[in-house]
Amino acid sequence: MHFRGLGPPGSLPLRRPVAIAGIDRKRGEVTLHLPSTDAATPWLAMRRAGDRADPIGPLGRPLAIEPRTHHLLLIAEGLSVPPLGPLTEAAIATGRRVALLLGARSAAEVYPSSLLPDELEYVVATQDGSLGHRGSVVDLVPAYEAWADQAVASGGPALLERVAHLARGRDARLGVACLGRRTARRGRRTGRVTRRSWLSVVLEQRVGCALGVCLGCVVPGASGPVRVCREGPAFRADELAWEESA
Ligand code: FES
Repeated sequence: MHFRGLGPPGSLPLRRPVAIAGIDRKRGEVTLHLPSTDAATPWLAMRRAGDRADPIGPLGRPLAIEPRTHHLLLIAEGLSVPPLGPLTEAAIATGRRVALLLGARSAAEVYPSSLLPDELEYVVATQDGSLGHRGSVVDLVPAYEAWADQAVASGGPALLERVAHLARGRDARLGVACLGRRTARRGRRTGRVTRRSWLSVVLEQRVGCALGVCLGCVVPGASGPVRVCREGPAFRADELAWEESA
């Protein structure tokens, strides 16, 4: 969602991208979790019922649960949990089991469990060891890679690179055969076999216009540049170009 404040000059003159953390369709409400450091937070916190804003969205391509997924693994760090909210709600509502692995610098920066559904398995890693596993959240992933049918990572480039690198070796470690599904064109089988990537990622990227026009959000894709605001922010890991050294 992209926000612009309506009000006195200087209130929130530029649009701000804000992830939707939850959706209540019956009540027509969306939930936003913003860090105190975000420029939009003070302005939004001052709003009262009846105040006007000028949001546009939802923008881009959302995360999707694969039909065959029974166990969904979420990997996040710091404040990158909110974009996973609607996917988590949808997975739990449809009877899937969901585990969230979260990394943070210390216990003080761990996402509050009170903001997460009770049904979620929540495992924490902190760099200083003040809560949960001491070290990186990526250390926790191998214990879940056989359990999870699908994984989604949300966070900065360093985390996503490491998880993508790990995911590339998953099939070989688990002995998964590359059977995939045959694709059909005009009712005829083409013989081409495709396989969905186990891992999807949500990119944290500053966006400008958020409408696909300014090209300020372009990142390297596997088949050429892609716009995070239009083709993303959710991508299958095999749609992006990753550093080989990760
Ligand atoms: S922010 Fe302008 S093209 Fe994506």
